[in-house]
Amino acid sequence: MRVSVIGAGYLGAVHAAAMASIGHDVVAVDIDAARIARLQAGETPFHEPGFEPLLRTGLNSGRLRFTTDLSEVATARVHFIAVGTPQVAGGNAADLSYVDAAVTDLLPHLGAGALVVGKSTVPVGTAARLAELVEGAGRGAGLAWNPEFLREGYAVADTLKPDRLVYGVRDAPGAAVSAAVAEQLLDEVYAPIVASGTPKVVTDTATAELVKVAANAFLATKISFINAMSEIAEVTGADVTTLADAIGYDERIGRRFLNAGVGFGGGCLPKDIRAFTARAEELGRGESVAFLKEVDAINLRRRDRVVELVLDSLGQRRYTGRVAVLGVTFKPDSDDIRDSPALDVVVRLRGLGVDVVVTDPRGLDNARAMHPQLTYVATAEEALADVDVAVLVTEWRDYRELDPVAMARLAGAAPTIIDGRNVLQPAAWRAAGWTYRGLGRP
Ligand code: UDX
Repeated sequence: MRVSVIGAGYLGAVHAAAMASIGHDVVAVDIDAARIARLQAGETPFHEPGFEPLLRTGLNSGRLRFTTDLSEVATARVHFIAVGTPQVAGGNAADLSYVDAAVTDLLPHLGAGALVVGKSTVPVGTAARLAELVEGAGRGAGLAWNPEFLREGYAVADTLKPDRLVYGVRDAPGAAVSAAVAEQLLDEVYAPIVASGTPKVVTDTATAELVKVAANAFLATKISFINAMSEIAEVTGADVTTLADAIGYDERIGRRFLNAGVGFGGGCLPKDIRAFTARAEELGRGESVAFLKEVDAINLRRRDRVVELVLDSLGQRRYTGRVAVLGVTFKPDSDDIRDSPALDVVVRLRGLGVDVVVTDPRGLDNARAMHPQLTYVATAEEALADVDVAVLVTEWRDYRELDPVAMARLAGAAPTIIDGRNVLQPAAWRAAGWTYRGLGRP
């Protein structure tokens, strides 16, 4: 099938390459000419395991191309909208200007029977509003909402082997593309995924929009729940990691996403829970998700706690001691620094006058571009030289597997390790001469 993808960011670029790998003829469009040129040359603008081979295979097959010219989408039957919905400046709501512009600009290029398929995360009600725009354009085209759930670091697998497919379709009377036809088109697009038995949920657009925000709100709540337990553990001498293991054995609770630490960041969870709160307030149901404000607050307090632990560990050495932060991305296997707890901690320490260096296997270029004032070093070994306080904030495998004995030889006298992700073995680090401090661990 001829398919277009509007927006070649993280989601759009991966989606386009994945659709080409399934056998579709894909054109991806973005207004960022530099990004399009890189993608068309087979270069990945971000670090994502498995994406580069998928991109190159797609380009070489002739089934995938990138362009800045929107008119090239005219022959496509299905148009995916994959542009960003960032947080508005000075507020909690989602900025829908990119989505609105993408759909409006697409209208003159829609053929009869074409289906516009929203993938961006949007406030509930957006699809219905956009559907009226598409249907009202009189081109015989329709709209559906098909949220994605991809995680950075697993984007390719999450696109080609998702946990579920969600189709939000419209059964509006007189709609140019009926709900049944929209479902059929999406089935055709995702044919191998559907054939492999992936659960499929076919529903209305409002439910589809809500599925996405509800899923992210639940995940954020799970993380903040265990981080709240961390706060209690800290004043009682309990160990939150053992607590998580013990409650996680209950299958109704489950152990995944119960890792206490410096909390969640990234381009999705923080802004999605805020946008959900803002939308619920608009709908007069602010109280229904008021707890998400608490989820956000707990999450941000964990960053305060890490900064507090560093200052406490430095003690008298506040302006003379050396601090090394391991990790700058919001999670491992990504070069993404959007709303990164790690970067926040570094910026705040620097702002407090602390002598801090930071390292990361993949995120330094992005961090340097945004915060040129910080001190970056290439390796953990360089970072830990003569260090008084080391802080692990992004749990890259390289850092999880550091040898505490070898690192103690590099570090200054009486060093402290702050384990911001609770992934190190306290006994091994203590035995090697470090003072170990975790989050919610004695
Ligand atoms: C998330 C959702 O998982 C995904 O389904 C959605 O499509 C986009 O948002 P992503 O932002 O890639 O994906 O990251 P995710 O793996 O969910 O992690 C988010 C943050 O939570 C990271 O900062 C991570 O370090 C943190 N986290 C995760 C915890 O602090 N504890 C955990 O137990 C799990």
